[in-house]
Amino acid sequence: MQLLNVAECWEANADAWTRHVRAGFDIYRDALNSPAFLSILPPISGLSGLDIGCGEGTNTRQLARLGAAMQAIDIAPTFIRHAQEAERAESLGISYQAADATNLPFENCSFDFATAFMSFMDIPDQAASLRETHRVLRPGGFLQFSILHPCFVPAHRKVIRDDEGNATAIEIGGYFDRIDGRIDTLWFSALPDDMRAKDTPFHIPRFHRTLSEWVLMINDAEMVIEIFSEPCADLSLAEQQPVVADTRVAPISLIVRVRKPI
Ligand SMILES: C[S@@+](CC[C@H](N)C(=O)[O-])C[C@H]1O[C@@H](n2cnc3c(N)ncnc32)[C@H](O)[C@@H]1O
Repeated sequence: MQLLNVAECWEANADAWTRHVRAGFDIYRDALNSPAFLSILPPISGLSGLDIGCGEGTNTRQLARLGAAMQAIDIAPTFIRHAQEAERAESLGISYQAADATNLPFENCSFDFATAFMSFMDIPDQAASLRETHRVLRPGGFLQFSILHPCFVPAHRKVIRDDEGNATAIEIGGYFDRIDGRIDTLWFSALPDDMRAKDTPFHIPRFHRTLSEWVLMINDAEMVIEIFSEPCADLSLAEQQPVVADTRVAPISLIVRVRKPI
């Protein structure tokens, strides 16, 4: 699948996606993945950071509130417009621009750190995004990114439930099938039926790579792995937000921190 088609898909998703996430329907992001991501992030106050694939910017704003001087890019101009509107409503000093993660519009060694929340697995040439991130980081800088877990969200994934609807196992298949642009059609699972009737579902191009391919791409980009983290809902979160209870069986996302050597 060409980059243009990926950009077109995300541009078409961007308006409804922004409305739905800002209304709180991306429960995996807000209740589990982003808190887990931020809990292992090194201190960033006073550092310059780049958020790659920022979407409508909720996570970028969290980084700015932690004291970082943030810039952010996304391939979909409509996401950037919504993020800029939020910046005008509450100024956090964030500069957003539409750009491609594989061709970043920044000089070498511009940033102390970079983040990418659930965006690298959506990019056809992930190796190029990792190399580009390495280029714009200063020596000693880090990249922390989250992706759909390569082992537990491959080509086929089905949550197995007992009679009460509790997740008991995850059925997976096609782990070694390279997916290059398969379009998955989905809603945020918490979205109520009346809202589904008003919008079209999201069309998400998928680019599955195995865990060992990710490690090779990181090595080829001359980055060093520091941390792997696999968010798991604790019992109280699973009771409060049953949507994320399946992560007690196996994780849905993987957080990776890598560093550009000095
Ligand atoms: C699952 S969304 C995550 C958005 C945001 N990081 C968040 O956590 O809310 C994936 C994002 O990656 C962006 N994206 C996909 N391909 C990209 C590329 N080549 N360059 C930059 N952004 C890209 C999409 O437009 C989308 O906003």
